Amino acid sequence: MHIKDTPAGYGLVSRLFHWLMALAIFGLFALGWWMVGLDYYSVYYHSAPDLHRGAGILLLIALLARMAWRVLNVKPDDAELTPFERKAAHLVHLGFYPLLLALMLSGYFISTPDGRPIDVFGLFSVPSIIQQKGLEDTAGLVHRVLAYVTVGLAVVHTIAALKHHFKDKSNILARMWSGPLDR
Ligand code: HEM
Ligand code: HEM
Repeated sequence: MHIKDTPAGYGLVSRLFHWLMALAIFGLFALGWWMVGLDYYSVYYHSAPDLHRGAGILLLIALLARMAWRVLNVKPDDAELTPFERKAAHLVHLGFYPLLLALMLSGYFISTPDGRPIDVFGLFSVPSIIQQKGLEDTAGLVHRVLAYVTVGLAVVHTIAALKHHFKDKSNILARMWSGPLDR
């Protein structure tokens, strides 16, 4: 069992980060999309945004840990891709990190300009650092655009992974699921 990444593929930690965060990102997208349509009398009017914000902050912490883990690990070999595919994959993979960071920061700035902290499931809270009128509206627009761009990119990324698996019969998806295939 490989914990760290090797030239042959992703280790356990990177795979857990990848799949758990992918699930959480799609989940938060669906939750965000649904909750902005709730009316004041819905029983979920307060609990759905509380869940979205709390899970978002936990995801931000996971993202920072994942970025550190990425820097500390070797990059698995992608020699079987064409030079174009390699460049495109690299760009998309690296693009996810700043996009997700900006998405979470904009979420923070929707939630805190009124001075209230974000409570993370009663475990801890993240204080408000900037109180400025109108900031929540700008942050809301940025957050919406970034959420759509991120999920759009994730869909393209998923189609590319499925194409490599089913059409090219490569082991790229298999090794992201089961780890380096050299055991
Ligand atoms: C620190 C992390 C996050 C925080 C604090 C946060 C906070 C918020 C808040 C407060 C809203 C409500 C905006 C409004 O009432 O207009 C919202 C909406 C939304 N969020 Fe997040 N969010 C975070 C992360 C994410 C992530 C990772 C996604 C995944 C793609 C996401 C997707 C959405 C979507 C789709 C909406 C609805 C946007 C709209 O149609 O206006 N959020 N978020
Ligand atoms: C929001 C969802 C997703 C995000 C943000 C995401 C992000 C990433 C990132 C950043 C990498 C590079 C490795 C790393 O830094 O950890 C990666 C690799 C990979 N992802 Fe995703 N991913 C998502 C969903 C998916 C889905 C749904 C699939 C397939 C059905 C998939 C298949 C793969 C594969 C096969 C690799 C390995 C590519 C290689 O070995 O070069 N991803 N993903």
